[in-house]
Amino acid sequence: MSRPIDATLFRETLGHYPTGVAVVTAVTDEGIPDGMVVGTFSSVSLDPPLVAFYPACDSRSFARLRSASAFCVNVLASDQEPLCRQIATRGEGKFDRVGWRPGPLGAPILNGAVSWIECTFEEVREAGDHLIVLGRVHDLAVERSTLPLLFFQGGYGRFSPGSFVAAPDPELIQAAHLAETIRAQVEELSAEFSVNCSVLARIRDDAVQVLAINRDAAGGSPPLGHRQPVIPPMGAVFMADAVPAAVDAWLRRAPDDSKETRDLHSALLDRVRECGYSLLAAEPHLLERHRAALAAFEQSDRLPRQERAVRQATVELAGLFCPDLVPGQKYDLASIVVLMPTTPELPPMALRMTGLPPSASTAEVESWIDGLKRVAQGVAAA
Ligand SMILES: Cc1cc2nc3c(=O)[nH]c(=O)nc-3n(C[C@H](O)[C@H](O)[C@H](O)COP(=O)(O)O)c2cc1C
Repeated sequence: MSRPIDATLFRETLGHYPTGVAVVTAVTDEGIPDGMVVGTFSSVSLDPPLVAFYPACDSRSFARLRSASAFCVNVLASDQEPLCRQIATRGEGKFDRVGWRPGPLGAPILNGAVSWIECTFEEVREAGDHLIVLGRVHDLAVERSTLPLLFFQGGYGRFSPGSFVAAPDPELIQAAHLAETIRAQVEELSAEFSVNCSVLARIRDDAVQVLAINRDAAGGSPPLGHRQPVIPPMGAVFMADAVPAAVDAWLRRAPDDSKETRDLHSALLDRVRECGYSLLAAEPHLLERHRAALAAFEQSDRLPRQERAVRQATVELAGLFCPDLVPGQKYDLASIVVLMPTTPELPPMALRMTGLPPSASTAEVESWIDGLKRVAQGVAAA
């Protein structure tokens, strides 16, 4: 007799198998366009042309879709994670504001999808707590031959082709060139205050170190090329000049999307915009936890599970950001970051100071901030 299978073990084991992400759409018998996200879409047969997906028996979304005569499987692109999250919610209204056009049989083809496959229901069969839906393909096309959205270990990602040579990121190279043009000023700043200075560029969702002037060679400063995911409250400086959609995407990267957390991060961003810098107070215990989570993430090929641990450790730093600068007080700071003015064709860049001496006076902190702002502004003139 086979042993009883533990639900957590089942999910954990099967979660190690990656899937694509598709939205099954239809116009219901009430004439309302609707959809559901599935990771279970697959090709079944060429002759006759059949595909399948597996909705949960109790899926209310599928119950509505089932009333239609045709459905369309839309394969999502890697830049459609927000759309995926919207449609994966329960309830009414999740299809509002979704851009689409009707396919030949009338089922919605989503704007921006990689490909679509329009089908009629061939067979719906029960399989435990799920249904096996076989669809007969009537029409299909590749809309946008781009990277698909992938789902793995409960997190989203995208395919990165293997290569002997790491593909150079053009934005990263441009940012590194710009950083080189201010190397002398950054070195001077580092020498003047005996601190570490680095230039960061925001490449997609990471802050990448493109120039590092480290005073304490053995001091554990992150090396050149070090990447850190820009997750709130980290990276507020990069958001200072960002368009609302980018700010929204940043806010959504927090581990919990509650109004309280959003408000906390929005308030931090307002403060950074106001003063033109971001301060991080040194709290060794929390910073060490963050550093360890980040190291595990990097060493694990950036697995989604580890990414969640980084998000959690990052959000715990929220209280350490931007303490008020009160005359007469002493400050233990881990870092100060200011935004560098760059041109639109360059990624957003920032200048960071770390390795700061403890118990600094307000005047000292202000002189560090002034120094950073002076060098950052120099970029505009460079
Ligand atoms: C990446 C991803 C893949 C999913 N795959 C499936 C699936 O294959 N079958 C399914 O029933 N639900 C799947 N879901 C859950 C549904 O999209 C949706 O959240 C759920 O159906 C909502 O409940 P409702 O159908 O009762 O409205 C998936 C969700 C995500 C985010």
